[in-house]
Amino acid sequence: MKRVGILTGGGDCPGLNAVIRAVARRSFGRGSEVVGVRNGWRGLVDADTTALTIREVSGLLPRGGTVIGTSRTNPYKVEGGVDDVLRNFAEAGLDALVAIGGEDTLGVAARLFSEHELPVVGVPKTIDNDLSATDYTFGFDTAVAICTEAIDRLHTTAESHNRVMVVEVMGRHTGWIAVMSGIAGGADVILIPEQPISVEEACGELQKRHERGKDFSIVVVSEGYELTYASGEKRQVAQEAPGTDQFGHVRLGGVGEQLAREIEERTGFECRVTVLGHVQRGGSPTPRDRVLATRYGLKAADLVEEGRFGTMAALQGDDIVAVPLADAVAELKTVPPQWFEVAKAFFG
Ligand code: F6P
Repeated sequence: MKRVGILTGGGDCPGLNAVIRAVARRSFGRGSEVVGVRNGWRGLVDADTTALTIREVSGLLPRGGTVIGTSRTNPYKVEGGVDDVLRNFAEAGLDALVAIGGEDTLGVAARLFSEHELPVVGVPKTIDNDLSATDYTFGFDTAVAICTEAIDRLHTTAESHNRVMVVEVMGRHTGWIAVMSGIAGGADVILIPEQPISVEEACGELQKRHERGKDFSIVVVSEGYELTYASGEKRQVAQEAPGTDQFGHVRLGGVGEQLAREIEERTGFECRVTVLGHVQRGGSPTPRDRVLATRYGLKAADLVEEGRFGTMAALQGDDIVAVPLADAVAELKTVPPQWFEVAKAFFG
């Protein structure tokens, strides 16, 4: 019998609760106890935990968000934070920890494992889908579905008013959501951080489209796209104020508005902007994400049982496998050129 801790870190994401449920159900089946660590790594810094019984994990499968809370706390950026984590882990009587998160949360897990042998297993979460060593993270499919539906709806106004509708989607470092929802929704131009087309090129595509009689367009832009100009100049658009979080990230948002202004000035086409924001992370996971999250959760519980710490449950093809945590966080998984080519075939 083990005492298994679970934490969810970073941005909330559809499917987190489904993972919690699966880890718990499989662990209960083995006679283990399950403890929820509240609010990500902050719960281990502050010794804030809560027992999870079959009652707490009932009804979680379709529920968005995370019942144990999340945060962007980085124990390596809190004075004495790492010592607190190690002490509170031991004092809570935990034998293992399942950390569900993206590059930041799992980056901390990988370090705590390699530097302090913390018995931790990872589960890949992020709507951004930018984690390496796994084909897909859970939450991504739901975000793409939400964005695709929004693009479909925006087509109506675009067509009725002869407008360019600019849709800003999430994706801090990578354009996975923009490319996938843009392909699915029939976007006319897509701008992403890792393969940025210039503002001039984007306008050229829209003009080409108008010349062939299409007087409305849909432009999808990732929040992390830097306004890029033919001159080579680049400009990141971020929100004012709070500086960076404990992982060094600025708060993005606003590039859609600036891009729309540029398009209007350069082409004369009337533009409107929709920022999908946290709507993309909200609500119930798609069936695909529920299934993926469930499979990840079962695998994580099995890895705990087998004592295979320092690993992460990953999807490779149709199989759920174990990969080293260090591989998952070594570098970001960017959109490969062949995916962007699919999107580009429909530009203009
Ligand atoms: O990392 C996932 C993500 O959704 C990014 O796409 C986005 O930049 C960020 O989280 C927003 O975070 P917050 O909820 O802290 O504003």
